[in-house]
Amino acid sequence: MDAFEYRGKTLFCEDVRIDDIISQVGTPAYIYSKNAILAQYHELEIAFQDVDTTICFSVKSNSNLSICKILAEEGSGFDVVSGGELFRAIKAGGDPSRVVFAGVGKMDREIKYALENDIFMFNVESVAELEHINKLAEEADKTPRVALRINPDIDANTHAKTTTGKKENKFGIDLSEAEKIIKQSARYSNVDLCGLHVHLGSPIYTVDPYVRALRKILALIQNCRNEGLDIEYINIGGGYCISYTGEKVIRPKDYASKILPLVKEMQCNLIMEPGRFIIGNSGVLISQVIYTKETIHGKKFVICDAAMNDLIRPALYDAFHRIWPVNASIKMPEVENPDKTMVKKGMELVDIVGPVCESSDTFATYRALPKVKEGDLLAIFSAGAYGFTMSSSYNSRPRACEVLVDGDQFRIIRKRETYEDLVRGEDL
Ligand code: LLP
Repeated sequence: MDAFEYRGKTLFCEDVRIDDIISQVGTPAYIYSKNAILAQYHELEIAFQDVDTTICFSVKSNSNLSICKILAEEGSGFDVVSGGELFRAIKAGGDPSRVVFAGVGKMDREIKYALENDIFMFNVESVAELEHINKLAEEADKTPRVALRINPDIDANTHAKTTTGKKENKFGIDLSEAEKIIKQSARYSNVDLCGLHVHLGSPIYTVDPYVRALRKILALIQNCRNEGLDIEYINIGGGYCISYTGEKVIRPKDYASKILPLVKEMQCNLIMEPGRFIIGNSGVLISQVIYTKETIHGKKFVICDAAMNDLIRPALYDAFHRIWPVNASIKMPEVENPDKTMVKKGMELVDIVGPVCESSDTFATYRALPKVKEGDLLAIFSAGAYGFTMSSSYNSRPRACEVLVDGDQFRIIRKRETYEDLVRGEDL
């Protein structure tokens, strides 16, 4: 389904006009579609149903309690990387026995908290961490399941800042070291080493990097079994792509058709950790134009009330997000047209920027946009993943509110911060 679509000249989320929501909640505001989230989740579930699969929603992509609750109610597990994310998953109604815990720097207090809650599995990223988990498990009289996160040294062709499976990255354990740990697994008698994990980066637009990684891991599983270690779980991480431009991209069934045969050959249960795929295109950020300005050099700026503190992806990764007026007399093209010479009548080439005092506070440079004026609303698309979760109050800007739409209903699922919220906890 297309959760966000123009009906006539105005943008809707499901059956609600975006401008109706904004007249009640103000800007900037994140708006999510419940039914888009469910549709994406089910598409993955169906594509991978041929093997025993646990989908663990990656909480870092969007950790709002109401969003996590929707997924918990569908039976989703959760991929967490901190005690705080585990707290959120549980608070949202998530079942701790369906939680996997990754991250290179798990602290003792976080490991203890996860042990107390009997999470499903730790994805272990170093020998030092394995030693800590083993010791803390003994003290807690528990035997947690553990997967070794493998760094297979594979380039997933993502932005350099979101690649995680190359040998120079801090993540995971390289294959030869994993072999050593496996040979010495008797040392770690307080853990149940029963899984292997890999996460290559994000977003990944082809299935090939997954296939290459799984082929490397297949050989390792064989070696484990020769050592008497039964590897029951293969966790292939997240990274499944979404379209940011309107262009067609590969879908879960395309990933599954190449990944499932390998998982079957491994005779393992599958765990996956999608974040962006489920929530990325299920959310938009709505902002209002404050001013327009044209320099004497002919450069045009649209200055809006959302900024890099609300959505940092363009500043941090040069990420592309489609932007279009909520009420537009010119139709948004199906696919973003990169050809700047094709700017139609009624449109202009502008930089879309926020009010923060940094030049990196730019959502789009030299972008073809229908002419807008003060007070107009702009939709920044594909903002559901790594939007709000990466937001901050930089420049002492209260963080945006979040809204959930379900059919013809909507409700605020996180209030807009106030000035008082900004200073809460500070002492004079
Ligand atoms: N599993 C692990 C171990 C991860 O580190 C991540 C993301 C995921 C799963 C989920 O990946 P996804 O399915 O959402 O692609 N802030 C960046 C993305 C960073 C991803 C970090 N790890 C962005 O805005 O593009």
